[in-house]
Amino acid sequence: MELTKRPRRLRGTDTIRRLCRETRLSPDSLIYPLFVDETLSGRRPIPSLPGQYHYGLDALPQAVEECLQAGVNSCLLFGLPKEKDPLGSSAWAENGVIQQAIRQIKQHDPDFYVVTDVCLCEYTDHGHCGALRGREVDNDPTLELLARTALSHAQAGADLVAPSDMMDGRVAAIRQTLDQAGFESLPILSYSAKYASAFYGPFRAAAGSAPSFGDRRGYQMDPHNRNEALKECALDVEEGADLLMVKPALAYLDVIREVSQAFPLPLAAYSVSGEYAMIKAAGQAGLIDEHRVMCESALSIFRAGADILITYFAKELAQAIRSGEIG
Ligand code: PBG
Repeated sequence: MELTKRPRRLRGTDTIRRLCRETRLSPDSLIYPLFVDETLSGRRPIPSLPGQYHYGLDALPQAVEECLQAGVNSCLLFGLPKEKDPLGSSAWAENGVIQQAIRQIKQHDPDFYVVTDVCLCEYTDHGHCGALRGREVDNDPTLELLARTALSHAQAGADLVAPSDMMDGRVAAIRQTLDQAGFESLPILSYSAKYASAFYGPFRAAAGSAPSFGDRRGYQMDPHNRNEALKECALDVEEGADLLMVKPALAYLDVIREVSQAFPLPLAAYSVSGEYAMIKAAGQAGLIDEHRVMCESALSIFRAGADILITYFAKELAQAIRSGEIG
């Protein structure tokens, strides 16, 4: 057969390139993480995450408006409580920071979609994600605390609860507690494949949730493993998870790919604080084009198979999608 001289790749105008894009992005797929500080009034820049803020409860309407203006209509809430204790009891307090934040947001705009991170590490004085027995997190007693926390979020008006603690059996425990309280239709987004990652550094500084001793390798996943992620996801599906998550995103694109192909549930990817901070820092140093690297990174995560992206760049990405630059 004679080879034609036709170019291999589609040439022509932007229109044909847009027609043939294999990956489509929408602002509807983006979730913006929001840090709420119970002791704060107004908002204050987060040193470890340039461009991000801690919001006081009174500043949440402004935060919501900024999201909506950019085209982002959902957030993931993290709380910085006034007080911490060994069990993390302010995580499930009726007037805890997250419970108040949910009510505040819903009062401002009932349609703004509120996802809550369900974990204890921001609320325990030792910074681990559960109750301790000696120097280890005690899995089973922690389940009840997590279920209580998720229920309190539901009662305050959360739309979706997202357990990030990685205790065994927490999805089932939360599902059962929610169902018994009449929240059968409230979905669970499980942080199913959450790796013990160095990319969480800036978040822990921002959320004050670094463990005071040891690390989280006892309950988070080993970065060497891929099959283990599939096993974690399968168990979460069995326990009743409605959506799955892989976290971090950029260093785990292979895991996103496999999980997206193996399970017919919506898949979220969390592009975490260290990923954001690296792009920001390199951009600020003039080493890369921050905006373009942000766009290309987000594309790679969707191309790998994610349906939803949780990212500190949500507002900038939504604008890039709206302007037609990507998407
Ligand atoms: C809570 C939690 C963490 C993140 C999300 N939920 C920190 C951790 O596991 O240490 C990290 C998010 C980020 O780095 O942006 N367990």
